[in-house]
Amino acid sequence: MQPQKIIIDTDPGQDDAVAILLALASPEEIEVLGLTCVAGNVPLDLTSKNARIVCELAGKTNVKVFAGCDRPMGRDLVTAEHVHGKTGLDGPNLPDPTMPLIPGHAVDFIIDTIRDHAPGVITLCPLGPLTNIATAFEKAPDIVKRVKKIVLMGGGYFEGGNITPTAEFNIYVDPQAADIVFKSGVPIVVMPLDVTHKALVTKPRNDAFRALSTRVGTAVAQMTDFFERFDKEKYGSEGAPLHDPCVTAYLINPDLFTGRHINVEIETQSELTMGMTVADWWRVTDRTPNATFMGDIDADGFFALLTERLARL
Ligand code: BDR
Ligand code: CA
Repeated sequence: MQPQKIIIDTDPGQDDAVAILLALASPEEIEVLGLTCVAGNVPLDLTSKNARIVCELAGKTNVKVFAGCDRPMGRDLVTAEHVHGKTGLDGPNLPDPTMPLIPGHAVDFIIDTIRDHAPGVITLCPLGPLTNIATAFEKAPDIVKRVKKIVLMGGGYFEGGNITPTAEFNIYVDPQAADIVFKSGVPIVVMPLDVTHKALVTKPRNDAFRALSTRVGTAVAQMTDFFERFDKEKYGSEGAPLHDPCVTAYLINPDLFTGRHINVEIETQSELTMGMTVADWWRVTDRTPNATFMGDIDADGFFALLTERLARL
């Protein structure tokens, strides 16, 4: 099988970093055409710097990294330093990147790459707010039908929200963008909090990263050490949830996940529930299904895959 050609749209973030490392470690299944950065966990200057730090950590300095939108489509930017630290990548002490950003805007790279490939080839993997993707769809509507699928981290149904009682961070930051993407007609696979809160870095899983005794293994253990303090305190959970790596793991082994093909709409009006993913899990409406909304994960299988792949870097 040919590797899947993907663009990772990202706002690193420790869990984004692990998702990127997993993709870069898996060339048989995944060809990363580029990383497009967006403002989210931290402002754009930091996410576009962190993405390059992660590429250099992986020893993949030839990956194309672009800076994209620095704010949501219609709202002020909300960031998450309270979760990810001041840099967005707090935990390990990693050097500043030497590889440059590629000149040009991430949105134009997304548009050009989709146009340059046959329809049905490019998979988009958003790990942050959907601003770059929705902006590309608005600017170049001809690309929408050419996208093979979108596999994204965002939303929640049974788990509710993590930034408000009803909204998950990525969707909350730019609900307007999320609405455009969910209405686009592109096949969408969603990794919501319902799944990612089961992908917890417990102590033995963290020890397994550290036991790789590589720069990458140590850095990932330090990132998840840092990231876990927030969720342990908030949810009383056993460790850090690896939200975004669920996206890249799905590309490698979709059988690790189960879900339902259902209708998912985004709340864009109510301040109370802004950014909620209104998921018709029980199929109580006749609204047309537009997304495969995952509900469960084989967490042991996921961590076995992740640890095995990280060991390659
Ligand atoms: C999502 O928000 C960010 O904090 C994480 O990187 C992840 O993409 C989880 O809600
Ligand atoms: Ca993210």
